[in-house]
Amino acid sequence: MDQAEGLRNIIKNSALSSRPAARVITVTSGKGGVGKSNVSINLAVQFRRMGKKVIIFDADFGMANIEVMFGAIPKHNLADLIYQGKNIREIITMGPMDIGFISGGSGIASLSNLGKDYIDYLVQNLGELDLLADVIIIDTGAGISDAVLEFLVASPEVLLVTTPEPTSITDSYSLLKALNRHPSFDRENTTIKVVANKVGDFEEGRALYTKINAVVNRYLKIPLYLVGVIPEDHELVKAVMQQMPISISNPNSRSAQAFTDLATALETNAKDPVYHKRGMSGFFSSMIRGRQ
Ligand SMILES: Nc1ncnc2c1ncn2[C@@H]1O[C@H](COP(=O)(O)OP(=O)(O)OP(=O)(O)O)[C@@H](O)[C@H]1O
Ligand SMILES: [Mg+2]
Repeated sequence: MDQAEGLRNIIKNSALSSRPAARVITVTSGKGGVGKSNVSINLAVQFRRMGKKVIIFDADFGMANIEVMFGAIPKHNLADLIYQGKNIREIITMGPMDIGFISGGSGIASLSNLGKDYIDYLVQNLGELDLLADVIIIDTGAGISDAVLEFLVASPEVLLVTTPEPTSITDSYSLLKALNRHPSFDRENTTIKVVANKVGDFEEGRALYTKINAVVNRYLKIPLYLVGVIPEDHELVKAVMQQMPISISNPNSRSAQAFTDLATALETNAKDPVYHKRGMSGFFSSMIRGRQ
């Protein structure tokens, strides 16, 4: 049995099993520092409040974003699962409100050159996340790296975080352009939803979306949807300093309210089966398959 066949079997088996698949949402941006990690953790809090089990996967291997924002230190990361034989439950750290998180650590970088046994073990273990979570939020690193693009093409649902800064707008376009060129990108299988962050008011957020959408529509023909508008909020900056999601430390703040609206907007299309079709096992299978 060659590697491709092994993977096909895993995919077939996970498709045949009746277990529920988690909803996988990937949070990304062109430019760094625009609010991805804040969107990830606050969305996690809002989904928890809706009674869902949530796991955040920190896929930024350079920086340890989520653990800093949660003020919780993970004992293990994805590399320990791949190389030290840890199982998936052992690498999940519990943050506030029982939100689980997994630190990708150096494990993300090594995903591209794993042998078959490692891949089998990884896909099997990550597939178990479908049993442990209703929603899996993947916080990617910034920029147009191969690793980020691989995560995006494997994702059914991508949140593209953008701010009104001119560089954030142009970098969002560059990211989508690179995604569009990726041989495995399929616009039927990946929906891109824009989150306008750090805006003055809703109108500015809508104008920001309209601007990006016009260019993307014209040159790339990728449909974009506006799914959330988060105001610039000094309270959020304070929450970051306190290492606590604003949705917990100050749920009445303007930004926390906007995160509630974002979760509600996402929840309205939760029943769309396309978002649950592949789950985490399907996500990683298609990511690794794309490399072959
Ligand atoms: N809505 C907001 N209002 C005010 N400040 C914000 C807002 N969103 C983000 N920030 C500021 O931007 C900083 C970076 O946010 P965050 O860490 O979420 O970005 P990121 O995209 O994850 O960054 P990186 O690319 O480094 O991972 C925060 O520490 C905060 O100071
Ligand atoms: Mg971040």
